[in-house]
Amino acid sequence: MKALTAKVAVVTGARQGLGEATARRLADDGATVVVADLQDPGALAAELEQRTGRRHAGVVLDVTDGRRLRAALDDVVARFGSLDVLVNNAGVSQPQLPLIETTDETYEHVMAVNARGVFNGIRAGGAIMAESGGGRIINIASYLGKRGLATFGVYSASKGAVISLTQAAAEELGPYGVTVNAVCPGTMVTQLMLDTLSATTGEENPDAEAWMRAYAGDRIPVRRMGRPADVAGLVSWLASDDSSYMTGAALNLSGGEALYF
Ligand SMILES: NC(=O)c1ccc[n+]([C@@H]2O[C@H](COP(=O)([O-])OP(=O)(O)OC[C@H]3O[C@@H](n4cnc5c(N)ncnc54)[C@H](O)[C@@H]3O)[C@@H](O)[C@H]2O)c1
Repeated sequence: MKALTAKVAVVTGARQGLGEATARRLADDGATVVVADLQDPGALAAELEQRTGRRHAGVVLDVTDGRRLRAALDDVVARFGSLDVLVNNAGVSQPQLPLIETTDETYEHVMAVNARGVFNGIRAGGAIMAESGGGRIINIASYLGKRGLATFGVYSASKGAVISLTQAAAEELGPYGVTVNAVCPGTMVTQLMLDTLSATTGEENPDAEAWMRAYAGDRIPVRRMGRPADVAGLVSWLASDDSSYMTGAALNLSGGEALYF
């Protein structure tokens, strides 16, 4: 039997990047997966159905809207019978600027998606799982949640909030059989990272390969950038029964770039 057989999982921000890889991995490992995103993730849900021969679903939602998120999760329970795993992955980056040049709009938007979005997910998913007797909440933070980085101040703060929410939720929900953990990826190759690179270099099509080789060579002990599949593998383990004694953790997944706890 596969590790996630009979589990129902929701992954937010799953239309591309780390969320997409995670949705694919959870489906391959036996879960029924509901992919949720601002942009219609229907094509991915259909592909997962074809690939696994099981039912999955796609839902359009904005994680900043707490009521809509709760309604969507209730709908998952009504349709598939339970909510066992919630991966709060949806997130946005920020224009790379010092804090004294950062706009109110950037602050509001980054905090709304990255911090409030995860709060909305924990509140809604945690309530459903606590009532049903257990579950797994996995929040995608960042290594920058543990180390505020110049020109990424608001993003770093939003991910720090994700780690604090994870710890508080782990204490509150542990007695109900719900574990809550955060994954703190390092520098991963996704569209979000490539967009950030374009914004940083000012080039429309920067030589990403050369940049990645130089960056990894300088800063990452395992000498490569992270891949979406790296995150997917850790999330799958956190979603499984094997991880039942781990909660409140914020796990670095950075090829050694982040050596602090
Ligand atoms: N890529 C990296 O290097 C890296 C490193 C550390 C952490 N992260 C975090 O991992 C997560 C995924 O990042 P990614 O690189 O795959 O990003 P991405 O931009 O490739 O994908 C993010 C997805 O989230 C969706 N989304 C954005 N706002 C949303 C909202 N309000 N409601 C619902 N969906 C929304 C987007 O439509 C998109 O499909 C984010 O939380 C990000 O902060 C990424």
